Amino acid sequence: MTGNREPIEALRTLYQRAETSEYIGEAVSQLAHALQAAHLARASGADDAEVLSALLHDVGHLCAGSDAARMGGHGVASHEDVGADYLGALGFGPGVCERVRGHVAAKRYLVATRPDHAARLSEASRITLEHQGGPMSEPEQRAFESSPWCDSWLRLRSWDDAAKVPGLAVPGFDAYEPLLRAALVSRREDPGAGA
Ligand SMILES: [Fe+2]
Repeated sequence: MTGNREPIEALRTLYQRAETSEYIGEAVSQLAHALQAAHLARASGADDAEVLSALLHDVGHLCAGSDAARMGGHGVASHEDVGADYLGALGFGPGVCERVRGHVAAKRYLVATRPDHAARLSEASRITLEHQGGPMSEPEQRAFESSPWCDSWLRLRSWDDAAKVPGLAVPGFDAYEPLLRAALVSRREDPGAGA
């Protein structure tokens, strides 16, 4: 790859296409959902890796091949792993990839531990929950809580759940290019870097 231009262009192409792809039964496109999630993260004072994980958390729905396993009409199965692995291959570090990987587990955790959470899920999110293993068991909850990513996964989930407002005006994909570039550069220069 020449520098970090190719991964950013690959992402830009996926998200341009996502402008017209519906977000699994929700009232916003995949692109609008991603941009709203990133904007909410930024407005909350999140660090750069968190903002990028919010932007990219559903990339697994966009990058998967036509032969990927699907949850009926509700997106790509294990899209959190598909997305995290894709981002890792593009050159992002664990600060982005592991946050993306945990965002479905966070839904399963919240549904299991906060009685009102299931009622607040959108209908589409309730349907995909069934495909994703349903509420976490107690051992799964303890493992989730003991992860160093736990708080971060829950924050990402809160932005994800809120990023479904039809017609909301937020900054576009280009607004995140400097962050994308910086994450990929720091990763290339220091493969142990967090972003
Ligand atoms: Fe999402």
